[in-house]
Amino acid sequence: MEIERTLILLKPDAVQRGFIGDIISRFEHKGLKLAGLRMLWISRKLAENHYGEHAGKGFYNGLVNFIKSGPVVAMIIEGDDAIATVRKMVGSTNPKEAAPGTIRYDFGMHTGRNLIHASDSKKSSEKEISLFFDIDEIIEYDKNEDSWIYEKS
Ligand code: RTP
Ligand code: MG
Repeated sequence: MEIERTLILLKPDAVQRGFIGDIISRFEHKGLKLAGLRMLWISRKLAENHYGEHAGKGFYNGLVNFIKSGPVVAMIIEGDDAIATVRKMVGSTNPKEAAPGTIRYDFGMHTGRNLIHASDSKKSSEKEISLFFDIDEIIEYDKNEDSWIYEKS
């Protein structure tokens, strides 16, 4: 068992369309744990930091403008193999190619309105968590249900 943390953003489309609760529920139902939660308007500087790897690509300006077009919800999700597990639940970048049952397939239609961001590696999760959360905003606590979710390792 490897407990990891990953950074999720519910993008402006997810907030505007009223999917905050539905999406958080999916992670809770899976057995993942919330370890940080905040709502914010992303500044241009933060958007450019977060999406720096895509600078120069054709979709970059549209992506930066979109992510700051309305408030987002940022959260840290924690659990065994959380980074890959959450990416699977999120689905492929293009909602049309995402598998049914994933968030992007179930709620989305177009790549530029794909509702959610999730860290894609350990390295990016560490960078992204530190971009969106101060250390004292990362919440450590036990949940009594853990023994009903995880076998003893
Ligand atoms: P994200 O970073 O948002 O979790 O998405 P991702 O890893 O699945 O996809 P990534 O390649 O990192 O792209 C970041 C976001 O840019 C938009 N995009 N548009 N028009 C396009 O070809 C295109 N490609 C990517 C999407 O909103 C994607 O989530
Ligand atoms: Mg990405």
